[in-house]
Amino acid sequence: MWNAHITEEDYKIIPKEEWDIRDTIPQLAYLTHNFVRYYGKYIPPIATNLVKRYTERQDIILDNFAGCGTGLVEAKLHGRNSIGVEINPLGVLASKVKTTIIDPRKLSDTFMDLLQKSSLDISNLEEKNNEVTLSIPSKADFSSIDKWFTSKQINHLGVLRHHVFGLEEDDALKDFFKLAFGAIIRRCSLAFDGEVRPHINKKKKPRKVLVAFKDKVEDMIERMKLFSQETAKDVFTKVFQHDSRDLQKIVDDESVDLIISHPPYLNAFDYAPVFKPTMHWLDLKYLTTRKEEIRAWPATNKKLVDKYFSDLDKCLTEMYRVIKPNRKCCVVIGDCTIRKKPLATHKVIINLATDKGFKIERIISRKPWYTTGRYSYDPRALKLEYILVFGLN
Ligand SMILES: C[S@@+](CC[C@H](N)C(=O)[O-])C[C@H]1O[C@@H](n2cnc3c(N)ncnc32)[C@H](O)[C@@H]1O
Repeated sequence: MWNAHITEEDYKIIPKEEWDIRDTIPQLAYLTHNFVRYYGKYIPPIATNLVKRYTERQDIILDNFAGCGTGLVEAKLHGRNSIGVEINPLGVLASKVKTTIIDPRKLSDTFMDLLQKSSLDISNLEEKNNEVTLSIPSKADFSSIDKWFTSKQINHLGVLRHHVFGLEEDDALKDFFKLAFGAIIRRCSLAFDGEVRPHINKKKKPRKVLVAFKDKVEDMIERMKLFSQETAKDVFTKVFQHDSRDLQKIVDDESVDLIISHPPYLNAFDYAPVFKPTMHWLDLKYLTTRKEEIRAWPATNKKLVDKYFSDLDKCLTEMYRVIKPNRKCCVVIGDCTIRKKPLATHKVIINLATDKGFKIERIISRKPWYTTGRYSYDPRALKLEYILVFGLN
């Protein structure tokens, strides 16, 4: 069903374009983009270029694999409305916090209070005062917690979690601090910071919990200040924790002006396991997410590959239903290799989309300029990243 059947001749005549984006990771991590490390996101200029090229102010953009909200942040910065759909609750939390403006003074006041209470509790804990309340994920939920964290880190994180989860402020403010807490989990664990899938780094000295939290929150507040100055105030960003294979209840027929779609890349990695420790500390449903997410790895399993493409096929049906006539639908995707054999995932997607009634109008390609670490997927497998621009027949 999913074998690429586009002919070489047909492929050749599709207009091509190359984007050469060489900004470094720090240059790309501006404003709220830097709030949390979400592995496997696209770089902001991909969204910026598509938003500027294919939409006007006040248009509605759908990002149906919103991840941590990169596309939604760019939409808001450029005065476009957006709808984000994402199955992973960590991505949903990040997408909301990165696009919700909060008064920095309110953030600073709450932060001072949080910090004071947490440092007092940590001092008490070190003096073996049993009065301190800890909030630690249960072993029933997170059985491998002792593998990833030293007992000292578990206790300090437990203190901070107790105060963050106990905040009685409104949801947006509480979510801001929850995300900051989630953002330090990897650094405070025994896992490599930079690897996509978590692996123990025997040489690692984990960061002190309160120092890491203080640095993170101070940086986030500064960025929130700038974001609120630079972003449009007259547009909405709606984020749904939902499955992109069925958008019936959340997106109307022919209602969006641009789709930017960035599904998991086949044979790269599945998302939930990458965030497992963070999701447990944030009390986000790891197992449910694992069951519901579109699986992309390992592609040596033929059933998984069939299911991956049939899942994308369902998403494309929905994308075709919700896009307005004469507007564009863009799919960002990388090819893969399976047992050293290349599979042109982007060509398969062109076939699936064409069968729905989409018309491939342009293929943009870019070479990623950095790779993601020792345990990540083979960077040679991902020579190019494609942006497939579809119109409607
Ligand atoms: C390549 S990432 C998107 C990253 C995003 N562009 C960003 O910059 O953060 C793919 C996302 O698809 C999500 N996902 C997987 N299955 C899904 C589904 N059935 N519905 C919605 N999202 C899903 C994953 O959790 C992951 O966040």
